[in-house]
Amino acid sequence: MQTTKFYNGNEMPVLGLGTFRVENSDECKEAVKHAIISGYRSIDTAMIYENEAKVGEGIAEGLAATGLDRSDLFVTSKLWLADYGRNNVEQAYETSLEKLGLDYLDLYLMHWPGTDEALMIDTWKGMEDLYKADKVKNIGVSNFTPQHLEALLAQVSIKPVINQVEFHPYLTQNELRRYLEVQGIVAESWSPLMNAQILEDELVKEIATEVGKTPAQVIIRWNIQNDVVVIPKSVTPSRIEENLAVFDFELTEEQITKLNNLNEDKRIGPDPNEFTGQ
Ligand SMILES: NC(=O)c1ccc[n+]([C@@H]2O[C@H](COP(=O)([O-])OP(=O)(O)OC[C@H]3O[C@@H](n4cnc5c(N)ncnc54)[C@H](OP(=O)(O)O)[C@@H]3O)[C@@H](O)[C@H]2O)c1
Repeated sequence: MQTTKFYNGNEMPVLGLGTFRVENSDECKEAVKHAIISGYRSIDTAMIYENEAKVGEGIAEGLAATGLDRSDLFVTSKLWLADYGRNNVEQAYETSLEKLGLDYLDLYLMHWPGTDEALMIDTWKGMEDLYKADKVKNIGVSNFTPQHLEALLAQVSIKPVINQVEFHPYLTQNELRRYLEVQGIVAESWSPLMNAQILEDELVKEIATEVGKTPAQVIIRWNIQNDVVVIPKSVTPSRIEENLAVFDFELTEEQITKLNNLNEDKRIGPDPNEFTGQ
């Protein structure tokens, strides 16, 4: 599996499995297990998805079925807004680990910036505490704008390794991605398939025909060629496999530019400047 390197020298697979809106059920466990057996090495969950227990079972069964070690996998979870505040971070982290049945995470993210800048910065200090105590391999953020990052970086000592944000051809986040590149922070996309909506776009379908791949594969490949880590969600075994089969073709510069030009700054998720988690 191709990886991207963080500024701290650690690496992360460029492609992983998303698990948002997957209930804490056997379907969740089977999806994670199938992904690992198929070749996925990165799994993304969050406390607020309420599925960490079944994600953890899927990880355990996937490892058992493949003979892989825990260290062969990259597992991400996220700290929810209700647990913000430096003194709450460790407890929330331990709760996630317990549910997942793991003794460390590869990546722990602050899920949203929230609307209270002082609390955002205080919470990051709790993330730094975890990292400095060697309890987590990497710490990062999600849904931060350049303005949130500027405020954060002015007052903390450890830079996030990654920022996971909504990203698809209708929301290409050009200003944010330029900022992250300058800072050496990796960009990661959520809802890369726009919850399957982007698969109906005529240009996406046209390029898929040109390259002999599916629309989803084109979009996943477009993320990777844009240096954006991508975590498409699927609970469908055939789609889990389809979404991984993106390393045997390349999009041309022209195809990438055409997809980039679909940008409409259109979000399907909340505005990070306003979202409070309520
Ligand atoms: N940090 C954040 O705030 C945040 C927010 C949202 C999401 N995320 C993360 O990002 C991940 C991905 O985003 P997402 O789940 O919102 O949406 P997504 O990956 O853009 O789309 C998922 C949808 O696309 C369908 N799909 C997947 N592969 C397909 C294929 N090859 N062909 C046709 N349809 C396909 C899935 O259906 P089936 O499952 O039925 O196959 C599902 O309905 C999440 O799961 C989560 O881990 C993070």
